Amino acid sequence: MRRRAIIQMIVIGVLAGIVTGGVAYFVPWLPDAASTQAGLIDEVYWFVAIVCVVIFALVAGVALYAGWKFRAPDDDMDDGSPIHGHTGLEIWWTAIPTALVVAMAVFSGINLSRAEALPSDARVVEVTAQQFAWSFQYPEADKTSGDLVLEVDVPVKINLHANDVIHSFWVPEFRMKQDAVPGIVTTTAITPTKVGEYDVICTELCGLGHSVMRAKAIVLSAEDYAAWEKEGEGGGAGQGGGTGTGGKADGKAVFDSAGCAGCHTLSAAGSTAEVGPDLDTILVGADEPFVRESIIDPNAEIAEGYQPNVMPGDYEQRLSDEELDALVQFLLDSVGSS
Ligand code: CUA
Repeated sequence: MRRRAIIQMIVIGVLAGIVTGGVAYFVPWLPDAASTQAGLIDEVYWFVAIVCVVIFALVAGVALYAGWKFRAPDDDMDDGSPIHGHTGLEIWWTAIPTALVVAMAVFSGINLSRAEALPSDARVVEVTAQQFAWSFQYPEADKTSGDLVLEVDVPVKINLHANDVIHSFWVPEFRMKQDAVPGIVTTTAITPTKVGEYDVICTELCGLGHSVMRAKAIVLSAEDYAAWEKEGEGGGAGQGGGTGTGGKADGKAVFDSAGCAGCHTLSAAGSTAEVGPDLDTILVGADEPFVRESIIDPNAEIAEGYQPNVMPGDYEQRLSDEELDALVQFLLDSVGSS
């Protein structure tokens, strides 16, 4: 009888485990996988999830079975019989979870080191996190941008810097997640496999604007990436060319690199974000002092419907005087004010 009950419980538990595990497996729980690292991370995820689902189903199956099969009759007022330990059982329920947890740790460790392995000539992107914007610097192309621009199938080493508090870099489709910590440089690796646009998300609570601290990860084909690398070179430091619209070009570069596009819509900069006020409308008729004050002291006047303390208040320190002048002029020119 006892043996039969144990066998019944185990059979029910295993069946429940297979059914729930099977259902879980065929539901698309995870975002698209768009990097070579994603497959490795997903392997670990599924290994851990399946172990957990099977164990949960076994425990829940045994508990439900015992509640149904061994329930005391209504007129049974006796205490349960005292039970002493069962050494054999205790050895097994210690050994099996230990083996499973060690297996998870070893499997994760191996896959993480495989995911982070990069060729020594991997392209480098310097990523800077600050309340509440990302900026991306490309030493090879001598460019800075408010978006993470990558070339498909090219491994990239991401160096993470934080200017103020701890942030965390994550693109769900790439799976790799890493903290950006003030004072040290942390790294992660990405080899994008699909052309497309993804979200860069901050996943460490970093202040009032944490939930809006986003940027775009744009994966381009080799040709488009080469074109992007060349784009805007004339206005940059590298090439001597065109100085005609120097002031305006610089202002737009500051707009991009300071992360303005992460929060504000401005058609002149091609940005469509809706976190902060729409600059195309709010700056119409604005004068130079107002624009300048709104950048260096964002709380001085809060647009209706928006919260104070979301926009960083340190642009005066972060931008040089020339950068600030260029940015103010660019904004005024963009909306036709003066
Ligand atoms: Cu930066 Cu949350």
